[in-house]
Amino acid sequence: MPLMNLTESAPLAHTTVHGEIDPDAFRQALGRFASGVTVVTSVDPVDGRPQGMTANAFVSVSLEPPLALVSLARNARMLDVVTRAPRFAVSILHERQSELALHFAGRSDPDLTIEVTVRAGVPVLSESVAYLVMRRHELRAAGDHVLLLGLIEELGFDEARAPLAYYGGRFHRLAPSDHTLELWPEGPEPIWM
Ligand SMILES: Cc1cc2nc3c(=O)[nH]c(=O)nc-3n(C[C@H](O)[C@H](O)[C@H](O)COP(=O)(O)O)c2cc1C
Repeated sequence: MPLMNLTESAPLAHTTVHGEIDPDAFRQALGRFASGVTVVTSVDPVDGRPQGMTANAFVSVSLEPPLALVSLARNARMLDVVTRAPRFAVSILHERQSELALHFAGRSDPDLTIEVTVRAGVPVLSESVAYLVMRRHELRAAGDHVLLLGLIEELGFDEARAPLAYYGGRFHRLAPSDHTLELWPEGPEPIWM
């Protein structure tokens, strides 16, 4: 770990110090963390119906064993489904799937046709950038959310597709950074993971 060469300056605009964290400031600050967009899918064993929910709180956790997690709101209907079902899937959306992201975020569009491929009994979105099929590993309460850890049993990806990005409450498309090319001209090895 390199040592830090420190110089003190003024804090960022909109700084909240100690005490109560204002929910809007929380959303604004955490919303500055750019992410991809996923759809979590599973089949409810009670009625056999496939269910999906948009989630960007998705993290790659461990390679040995292969684990990933999704943070689900405690009142999300998907939480009941994944508590009952042994498996769930995460499909990472591509840049032209923002309609699907909205559809699975409570703005359902009855005219939308959703193409799926069934893997290990779980539907995954056919045109995604990547998908993971996971066995439920652990559910851990975390405030008003529950962390769903999954053991990855199967995955697939398509390098030719570009992902949908989410930043500041909006969908975006990615553009490569010139800086990366300057620092790692030999590419295309990833910088991390
Ligand atoms: C881009 C985006 C990302 C989201 N990420 C999450 C998330 O990580 N976890 C979560 O619980 N809800 C997330 N949501 C909200 C859920 O998709 C939304 O509340 C959904 O309607 C919940 O389904 P339900 O009302 O059937 O329970 C996200 C919504 C959007 C648009």
